[in-house]
Amino acid sequence: MKIMELTELYNQGKKAMLAADYGFFIQGVETGWVLKNNRTVMDSYALRQRAINGPETADTKTTVLEETLLAPVIMSAMTMPIPAMAQNGLFKVSRALKRAGSMMWTGSPMPKELSELVCKGAPHIQSVKCYADREKILRKIEHCREAGVRWVGIEVDTGQGTKVHDRIIASDCRPPSLDFLRKVRDMTPGKLVFKRVLSKEDAALSLEAGADAVMVSNHGAHTIDYLPHPLQVLPEISRVIRGRIPIFVDGGFRRGTDVFKALALGADLVGLGRPVLYGLAADGEEGVFQVINQITLELKRVMVMTGVDCIEKITPDCLLKLGGQ
Ligand SMILES: Cc1cc2nc3c(=O)[nH]c(=O)nc-3n(C[C@H](O)[C@H](O)[C@H](O)COP(=O)(O)O)c2cc1C
Repeated sequence: MKIMELTELYNQGKKAMLAADYGFFIQGVETGWVLKNNRTVMDSYALRQRAINGPETADTKTTVLEETLLAPVIMSAMTMPIPAMAQNGLFKVSRALKRAGSMMWTGSPMPKELSELVCKGAPHIQSVKCYADREKILRKIEHCREAGVRWVGIEVDTGQGTKVHDRIIASDCRPPSLDFLRKVRDMTPGKLVFKRVLSKEDAALSLEAGADAVMVSNHGAHTIDYLPHPLQVLPEISRVIRGRIPIFVDGGFRRGTDVFKALALGADLVGLGRPVLYGLAADGEEGVFQVINQITLELKRVMVMTGVDCIEKITPDCLLKLGGQ
């Protein structure tokens, strides 16, 4: 069996998706600035090589919110368009993530097979949108509890004007109040992650509402143009969080080197959206496994070359900020 390396997997998967009806999901909002900026920010850091007295190997394992993963890399919230891309697509993705020692995060719509995914597949997170109908949110959280979901993600932004080019795909959402988020906290068994926090103010309110973790995310360029990349706001958010809860990031992370940069700048976990879809489109379950596995192996090589033998030792000193960015 020929194993495709990451660039080939991504190219093949992207081509297949763009040729299909659901291809528009992988594009960006309006002018496409967010997608461009994601890459520009990531490319504005280089790695500081440390060779002498360096470790011979490195351990990519990490434990976050009591879940041990082979590397700090998980799938970001997505359900659409996985069932349309492959028969039993959600199960294929879940099995691949489990084999790779990772975690699955599903979004909207909530999969009808949620409890089966939770019980047979990779550790599972389920997102709930901030619907204007607050009872609907509480019903969805109750459904997560019944399905045995251990982590729930509440999407604190409203996705207003969500569109991909000119296709409006927004749900009917309303901004949450601090009181409502506290209620969600009380209702949610297990861990509660606040997704799409992009400012120090929202980070402070997330702490106040009792979040177990925040996911710093520009929603993969699916809401409005000119939202920053998570690495651009990570410093202000880290200053507020001060290590009290883990910080997750997603948006444009594609390689082990990208993941390393996020960890160096203070993230605890990195989410991948489109790469999981590309892996599935290019080579089914094996493709998804290869995406996570190759990123994990690349991260390990980068750690050895930068002189760190475990995740906790990756610090800002491992990076070089390039000029002019
Ligand atoms: C097809 C697709 C569907 C998505 N659905 C959701 C969703 O239901 N809920 C959510 O919070 N984010 C959703 N997202 C955003 C992702 O969770 C994630 O934030 C983003 O894709 C990360 O960027 P990346 O694709 O560049 O890795 C979706 C993204 C894509 C590409």
